[in-house]
Amino acid sequence: MATVFSGVQPSGDFHLGNYLGAFRNWVAAQHDNDAYFCVVDLHALTLEIDPAELRRRTLESAVLLLAVGLDPEVVTLFVQSHVPEHTRLAWLLECTASYGELSRMTQFKEKSAGSESVRAGLFTYPVLMAADILLYQVDEVPVGDDQRQHLELTRDLAIRFNRRYGETFRVPRASIPAVGARVMDLQHPESKMSKSVDSPLGTVRILDEPAVIERKIKRAVTDPGTTVEHDRERKPGVSNLLELLSAATGVPPAEVAARYHAYGPLKQDVADAVVAMLSPVRQRAAELQSDLGEVERILAAGAARAHEVASATYARAAEAVGLLP
Ligand code: TYM
Repeated sequence: MATVFSGVQPSGDFHLGNYLGAFRNWVAAQHDNDAYFCVVDLHALTLEIDPAELRRRTLESAVLLLAVGLDPEVVTLFVQSHVPEHTRLAWLLECTASYGELSRMTQFKEKSAGSESVRAGLFTYPVLMAADILLYQVDEVPVGDDQRQHLELTRDLAIRFNRRYGETFRVPRASIPAVGARVMDLQHPESKMSKSVDSPLGTVRILDEPAVIERKIKRAVTDPGTTVEHDRERKPGVSNLLELLSAATGVPPAEVAARYHAYGPLKQDVADAVVAMLSPVRQRAAELQSDLGEVERILAAGAARAHEVASATYARAAEAVGLLP
């Protein structure tokens, strides 16, 4: 059995990009692998966030991950800060990473741009992410395309640490889906759909009501001309819609394109497919909301399981670098 790990920041506003790029692939991987999924609350502290809001969103994130179909009987679902080895290993890896390579991280450059006071944690963010993964001796990390560079860094750090101190970590690889890895904003199809961008009409939230989803998709920006073609360069808006339908139906985007000769029917079918895909999630989330005590119990059991594996790896790494047992 391979070991799979992935994480998500606690945001109350999960969207179609998170679902197609990550969550549904986590659900698909859960039965055939030893799978760990983590709500990374410590990563959320790298940007300003109200403490009460962080608590609320962390629990809501766990609700949503259960609602999309993660089965707590087979996966280890937990909150990052409940397993202290994440920050402990992050320090050992900060002393493995270089200032130069962290300066080159595009997400750091984007998130720090224009900000007067950048938190040091935002700079070292990818190292904590590497620690998240390496603690569990992971084979595969199912993520969307925007995490590719972070995964490359994780691999580099694992390889460097192993070379310097002896075999300690398994070197993981990213698992990025063929379609849905980069869902674009419906109003600004040249930018990825993102919770941090203020584009309410461009972002389909997983928990949006069906009528809202339909309205957003019908108002999606298309491109000049009327032909339906899959061409991200020339027709980013239409291509995004084709990819959404492709992701929802399993039919390749070019084949989907051949079935349409106008934007209207395409949009209607995308709306119907997305509503059908997300409706069961919305219903399950509502049920789980009514028993948050159960969700907290699942997270506590997950943290206990995660801690067993994480503490063994941390002990090996600490010994390898020369810390006294
Ligand atoms: P986060 O919380 O931003 O996103 C969670 C997952 O959703 C994917 N995603 C998308 N996929 C397709 N299209 C989009 N528009 C889109 N937007 C987001 C992301 O690629 C991700 O897989 N750094 C991570 C969290 C993290 C992590 C980890 C992930 C911390 N430690 C260890 C994996 C392993 C992040 O901010 O994801």
